Order: sequence, then structure tokens, then C-alpha cells
Amino acid sequence: MVIEAVKPLTAAEISELCVRHTMYDWSLQAGLKPLAVATAKGVRFETVDGRRFIDFNSQLMCVNAGHGDRRIIDAIKAQADKLTYISPVAATEPRARLGQKLAELLPGDIDKVFFTLGGTDANENAIKIARAVTGRRKILSRYRSYHGSTGTAIEATGDPRRWPNEGAGGVVHVLDPYHGVERGTDPAGPALQQLEETIRLEGASTIAAFILEPVAGTNGILIPPDGYLEGVREICTRNGILMICDEVMSGFGRTGKWFAVDHWGVVPDLITMAKGLTSAYVPLGAVGLRPHIAAYFDDHVFWAGLTYNSHPIGCAAALATIRAYEEDDMVGNSHRLGKVLAAQHRRLQERHPCVGAVRNIGLFGAIELVRSRRTLEPLAPFNGTSPEMKAVAQALLDAGLFTFVRWNTIMTNPPLCITQAELEEGFEILDTALEIGDRAVND
Ligand SMILES: Cc1ncc(COP(=O)(O)O)c(C=O)c1O
Repeated sequence: MVIEAVKPLTAAEISELCVRHTMYDWSLQAGLKPLAVATAKGVRFETVDGRRFIDFNSQLMCVNAGHGDRRIIDAIKAQADKLTYISPVAATEPRARLGQKLAELLPGDIDKVFFTLGGTDANENAIKIARAVTGRRKILSRYRSYHGSTGTAIEATGDPRRWPNEGAGGVVHVLDPYHGVERGTDPAGPALQQLEETIRLEGASTIAAFILEPVAGTNGILIPPDGYLEGVREICTRNGILMICDEVMSGFGRTGKWFAVDHWGVVPDLITMAKGLTSAYVPLGAVGLRPHIAAYFDDHVFWAGLTYNSHPIGCAAALATIRAYEEDDMVGNSHRLGKVLAAQHRRLQERHPCVGAVRNIGLFGAIELVRSRRTLEPLAPFNGTSPEMKAVAQALLDAGLFTFVRWNTIMTNPPLCITQAELEEGFEILDTALEIGDRAVND
């Protein structure tokens, strides 16, 4: 047998071929120049042409355990050696153990899960379950939200990614308790009153569920005021509306607790997860059901299914990921270093007039840039960008810091394994890049 040596592609070739033959998310395809990434370890990744980056967004807020964790890689390999795939009608050890482990970790009495491939289909199925159990069709969701890219998940999404995708209807959006740049300082009352009023006008008997991110992610790390989630829980219960918490981004230690709802002691009827479930080493999502929801399907057919439901490699990866979180107390690290991150945020706010607001919960953070501290005019408009925001984003990349820059917001969501020294290293880069923002401040 002749084995031909395959000449590795250059960074430029990889980037060009990827753009020519594959589609990129949420963007114009012409003019894209994606980084050709070769390897990653801990909080860093490296491109094919040798550039090194510190990852301040855990990619898409998903690589919570950090890159290249041997324990997770070895578990994936071991499962691949034993059994790569079996139909979801079968029972497997990783499925059994992961189901049991999640029942232990998930809030309150949630003790059953339906496994999916990611967050979008977790939300699609949570909504489907809510409709089946209540016999109602309508779904409530919030404007500042993202719940996934297909079907009802994109209809439920409140942010502008919904606009080109909507049409089927059946979702009613409500306002959230966040206004202006200093989001998160508003009281819970007005948003709860508006929710009650919407339910009255839409008819409680027509609404199956209210889906919400307990801490909204891509829309700016929006932390609810105390009393808000508790109020939503009470309003949903009183109206027979199921509460679905989308913890796809906020789950698995990101906020300094296993799940964001744990900060307020709220137990939703359904919870969705993905991303941190496997730290994105392989795709896996899940819907968690409380016993009173799961019981409905004891004598009603569960009209849902996926070829990859409970994929053995996904389940094995998730078990190893959760074990890694536990062994290294990464949830505790997120809580502890969340305080360091908050102090770094405040330092930037003191030093840079362009920093209008900062907020975080655990290692889930965001910095909002403004043109004026007085008017709090954002440095880029809602759903848009500006030359100054583009320049700040470019300066971060040039200095070796990878993060998510959206509208006027810079995200600070590093892997939960980050050390204080690594965190401070990232903030030094932010400190320098923000000087560009300062030059745009007009008072
Ligand atoms: C809160 C939330 N829900 C759902 C999704 C969709 O998950 P996925 O991209 O895995 O389908 C995301 C993805 O960013 C998310 O942040």
C-alpha cells in the first residue's frame, strides 16, 4: 500500500477554501477572512501561521472547561473505541450515567432529560413539549434574547436575527427589565406588570409557555434585578403557563453557580442546555423536565425524536466535562474570579471615559462603550457598528485577544479554568485598546 504524503494547506489556503465552499453564520459571505486555527490549549489558541490568542469569550461562550482538556479528550477517545453510535431506542452506560448526573445537578426536582444536538433544537423541543402538555399554542419570549436559529426558536428570539426569519407567528414578545446602557439597574416591577398585562390581553388560556434566558447572553449579559425571576415564576404558575429557562449559555458554571436560576432559587418547568454541557468538545444539548411535565408522557406519546438523541460520544464527553468542572472546582473558580473580573471592569471604567457601563455575574461579563458618559450615547447603534467599534475590535485582535464584539458591547467571558494572571493579561490588552474608544468621546 502506498501512503501519499499530503502537503498541509497554508493558513491562506485554508481560509480561502473555507469561504469558497462553506457558509459562515450571520454574515455577508463576500470579503470574509476567517482566522485559520490549528490548535488550542487552556485559555489560548493558535493559528496555522503561528499567531497566538488569549480566548476571552470561550469561543461562543461554550468552551467552559478550556481548550484541549485531556480528561475530556480521553473520554471521547475511549467511547469511540467502544461504541461510536447506537440507535436512541437502545440504553447505554454513558446515557444512563449522564441522565443520573444531570438529575443531581439540575435545579429543584428536574430529574429527566431529552438529549438533542445543541441549543436550538433543545429550545424547539422544550416549546413542543410545553405545547403538548398544556394543549395551548402561543409562546411568550423577550425582545432582548436569542433562542436559536430555526423554526420556533428563531421566532422566539427577540433580537434582530429574528427579523429576516419570521413568518410563522405564534410568539408574542414582551419587554425585559433592562433599559439604556446601564442595564440591570432597573427595578423588576414595571417589566412584571407589563408581562401580566400582555398575558391578560393575549389570553392566559392561549399561552403554553414563557421562554427566557435567566441572564441574557449575546444581547449583552443582562442580569435580572432581584425579584424578577421570582415574579415571572409566580405569574406563570398563577396563569398555568410553563416557565422555560434557556440556560444554553448561562448554564454549567458560567455565572458562578451550576445554573443561573440557582442565584435566585427559581425552578423552571423546563430548562434547556447545550454549550457548557460538553464544553463544545462535541455537539450535545438537552431539555430538562420537572416530574409533573415528564409524567404527562407516561400515557401520551412523546411525538419527538432525533437520530442523535443520547449520542454515546456526546454523553461520554458531557460526563467527562462535568467531572472536570468538579475536579478543578471550575464553578467555584468562576465565582471567585468573577470578583477579580468585576474589579478589572471597574478599573477600566475609572480609566476610560468611553466605558459607559460594566457588569458581570461570575465569568459572564460585558463592557458597554459610549460616546459620552453624560448622555450614555452608545459607541455603536442598536443592531449596528461604527468605525470606532471596528477599530477597537481590530486592536484587540492585533494584540492577541479574541473576544466577541457586538454593537457597542465587548464581552468578557473567558473559560472557567482561567487563572488570575491570565485574566489580568487579557485586561491589559483591553486597557490599551480602549484608548481608541476614548478618542471618540465627545464631552
Ligand atoms: C441562550 C441561547 N439559546 C440558544 C442558543 C442556540 O444554541 P445552538 O447554537 O447550540 O443551536 C444559543 C446560542 O448561542 C444561546 O446563546
